[in-house]
Amino acid sequence: MKRESLPDPVPALFPDAAQRVQVAHWLIEALQAALARVQAGPVTPTIDLQQFRAELEAFDFKSPRPLEETLRWAIERMEHGIVQMANPRYFGLFNPGANFPAQCADQIVASFNPQLASSASSPVPVALENHLIRVIAGRAGLGADATGHFATGGSEANYTALLCALTAAHADFSRDGVRAFGAPVAFYTSRDCHIAWLKIAHQAGVGRAALHLVDTDGQGRMDCNALSRAIAADRAAGIVPVMAVATAGTTGGGMIDPLLACADIAQREGLWFHVDAAWGGAALASERLRGLLAGIERADSLIIDAHKWLATTMGCAIFITRKGHLLSEAFHASTSFMPSSLSNLDPYLNSVQWSRRFLGLRLFIALAAAGWEGLGAHVERAVEVVHQIKARLVERGWAIANDSGLAVLDAIPPPSLGDVRALVRRVVASGRAWVAPTLFEGRDVVRICATNGETSASDIDALIAVLNEPG
Ligand SMILES: Cc1ncc(COP(=O)(O)O)c(C=O)c1O
Repeated sequence: MKRESLPDPVPALFPDAAQRVQVAHWLIEALQAALARVQAGPVTPTIDLQQFRAELEAFDFKSPRPLEETLRWAIERMEHGIVQMANPRYFGLFNPGANFPAQCADQIVASFNPQLASSASSPVPVALENHLIRVIAGRAGLGADATGHFATGGSEANYTALLCALTAAHADFSRDGVRAFGAPVAFYTSRDCHIAWLKIAHQAGVGRAALHLVDTDGQGRMDCNALSRAIAADRAAGIVPVMAVATAGTTGGGMIDPLLACADIAQREGLWFHVDAAWGGAALASERLRGLLAGIERADSLIIDAHKWLATTMGCAIFITRKGHLLSEAFHASTSFMPSSLSNLDPYLNSVQWSRRFLGLRLFIALAAAGWEGLGAHVERAVEVVHQIKARLVERGWAIANDSGLAVLDAIPPPSLGDVRALVRRVVASGRAWVAPTLFEGRDVVRICATNGETSASDIDALIAVLNEPG
C-alpha cells in the first residue's frame, strides 16, 4: 500500500533547529538587557493599562505574527507591567528575584517537558526529586524514612498536610470524608498564620469554621497555653481536634512559633503536628541560623517553599512527611492507562496533582551550584540586609515591632512621618522601593523583607531615603 504523505509540522510551532538556536540566542540577550533595566528602574508597574487592554484587543489571533516580534512585545510589557521581584529595591512579600541556576533548570525542563506523574515515564526526574527530598528531610532532622514531593506552592503543600492529618485521624475518612468523624473537626494555627489555611479548610470539606486561630503571645508567636485551652474547650464541646500547625516564619512578622512546645502539645493530644516553614524553612541552609528551627524535626509534616527565600523560580514547594504511607492512602487511585502504578513511588499516587512539571530540578541545580554553604550565605545575607536597615531606621527615630531573627522587619515610623498606610502608599507610588503595610500584634507597621539576593548598600540608602520623606 502506498504511503500517504502528511502535512509538514506547523513551522510557527516547531521551527527548524537553526531558527531555534537563532531565537534562543536573541532571547537570552534580550532578557539579560531587560533585567539590567529592571534592576536599575522603578519597582512598580509604569504601564498604561487602558492602553495595554486596547493593545490586547488587537490580538484577535486571526493572522499569525512573527515569533520574535511577539517575544519582544512580551518582554517589553513585562518590563513595565509588573511589580519587579528582580529589582533589588523590592523589599516585599516573600517573592524572590529568581536565582540564575533555577532559571537554567527551567529551560531544561521546558525543552524535555517530562511528565512527572509516573516513575515509568520519568525515572530520572522522580529519582532526583526523591533524593533531594531525602536530603532536605535529613537537613530538617526528620530521619531516613521521611518522604514527600514537590508541589506548586505552599498552599497546595499545606492542603496536603491537612489531608494527611484527616486521613491519620480516622480510618474511614478516605471513604466517608468528614462524615466519618460524626462531629465537626478542628485544626489550630496562630492568628498570624498564612490565611490561605481558610481556603484549605474550605477545599478539604471540613469548612472554614474548622480553622481555629489561636491567640499570639504579644510577640507574634503562637501562645501555647491558648492552644491547649482551645483544644480542651473544643473537646468539651464535642469537636474533634485533628492537627496543630506551627508557623516557622510568619508572613507578617517572620516570627517562629515555639516549635518544641507545639510539638509537645500535639503529641500529648494525639494530633498531627505540621510545621508551615514556607518561608522560614530556608534557614535550614545556614549553619548559623538553622538552630532557630529547633523542634522542626518533631513534625509529622512540614513544608518549605523553595520559591521564597531559596529564590528558585515559582512555584516550587516541598512537602515532607515522616508518615509516607498516609500520602498513598490519601491519594491512591487505580487506572489501566498509566505506565506504572507503584503506590510508594509514583507521584500521581502520592500527591494532589496528576500531570506534573519537573519542579525539583530548580532547587537541585541551584543547590548543586551553590552548595549548602552558598545557599546558606544567600540566606544570611538577607538577614544582614534587614539588620542594617533596622539600625538605620532606629537611628532616625523609628521603632521596631517584631523581634525576628530572620529577614523581615516590622517598623513603626516616627509620628512626624504620619500614618503607616499613607507612608507605604507614598513609597510604592514613588517606584523607588516596594514595602508593604501589615498588622503586627494589632499595630500598623511597615513590613520590610529582604527578598532579593542582589540588594546592595546603595539600594538600602535608597530605601532609607524614601521611607523618611515626609508626605
Ligand atoms: C507562612 C506561609 N505559608 C504559606 C504560604 C502560601 O504559599 P504559596 O503562596 O506558595 O501558596 C505563604 C505565602 O507567603 C506563607 O508566607
